[in-house]
Amino acid sequence: MNQHLRLQAIPFIDVAAQRKRLGKAVDEAMSRVLAHCQFINGPEVTQLEAELAAFSGARHVVTCASGTDALLMVLMAKGYGRGDAVLCPSFTFCATGEAVALTGATPVFVDVDQATFNMSADSLKRGIATARKLGLKPRAVIPVDLFGQSADHNAIGAIAEAEGLFVLDDAAQGFGANYNGRRLGTFGHATATSFFPAKPLGCFGDGGAIFTDDAKLAVTLKSIRVHGQGADKYDNVRLGLTGRLDTMQAAILIEKLKIFEDEIAERNKVADRYARALSNIVVVPRLASGCTSVWAQYTIRLPKGIDRGRFASALKAQGVPTAIYYPKSMHQQTAYRDFPVAEGGLPVSEQLSSDVISLPMHAYLDEPTQDRIIAAVRGAVQA
Ligand SMILES: Cc1ncc(COP(=O)(O)O)c(C=O)c1O
Repeated sequence: MNQHLRLQAIPFIDVAAQRKRLGKAVDEAMSRVLAHCQFINGPEVTQLEAELAAFSGARHVVTCASGTDALLMVLMAKGYGRGDAVLCPSFTFCATGEAVALTGATPVFVDVDQATFNMSADSLKRGIATARKLGLKPRAVIPVDLFGQSADHNAIGAIAEAEGLFVLDDAAQGFGANYNGRRLGTFGHATATSFFPAKPLGCFGDGGAIFTDDAKLAVTLKSIRVHGQGADKYDNVRLGLTGRLDTMQAAILIEKLKIFEDEIAERNKVADRYARALSNIVVVPRLASGCTSVWAQYTIRLPKGIDRGRFASALKAQGVPTAIYYPKSMHQQTAYRDFPVAEGGLPVSEQLSSDVISLPMHAYLDEPTQDRIIAAVRGAVQA
């Protein structure tokens, strides 16, 4: 391979390769919307909701404007506010805890498991105790299916049931993954996901969806999505948002859903190959028993003594981009550092924030490119 080819920058997520594969199908879907002009609540929105319900196995799907709105709308529908505690992992994207804080409830941060990066059941129990000690009422828990792998829904569900907590699964990164043979979207009382373009199932802008088997909750969510609309359009019965997914994004998602299973399989092939080539040199992600992943991220941990900044620079010099999700856990960030954390602290979240780094991952990463990435990682660790 000549030097020029070797150093050509690899995209971290190749949205353009997918766009090329979809080609005319997406162009035609968008043209159909341009022809019927129902840009809000067009027929594609209802069609997408039905197709997402069939895909996930959830009875009701309410699409919305983003993954953050999906979380917020459920918390609003439940009426949480001041004095209520909602337990969430600290090692996650900020939207998980942000949605809680926006309602006036208190996010109580809990730790995650070393191996899976997902919510630790033991820390959840400690977090519930912490909330009570602070005089807060534990009302809900938000497990996150981080980096694409489903959380331990049985363990968290059992604690939630014993404590009377509502379970809102944050599957923004994990939609499409399974837990014990069942698709995410069917665990807990409701599931939120994001269609941000970089997500495994992404649109060409912002978008999200909520999945639930609770018919009453679905009706409330549909009202919240349009300013709290009641039976009479101009008699609003509750506070709400402009929370709709637009028709154009729905039309795009209908086309993307057709190739989603194939893309998940391709992502798994990349992950398997990375694991085989790298497991003796860095800590590669581990799938817990009964869990699958859609590999929103392929996140490794560097061995002690390897400087993360230098490692990233060495890969960059080879044209291999990396990203750090997340350099600060939520409880370490300025906006969230005054919220409570589970008793005993969150040592695993803090450790992960200091040693994780993510490699390029998408369904269109061919084997020669994977080999370049693998060689760059091995070279940087062994240097
Ligand atoms: C775990 C998690 N929750 C929520 C969100 C919010 O989704 P959105 O960006 O669509 O608002 C994201 C998006 O990155 C996420 O990764």
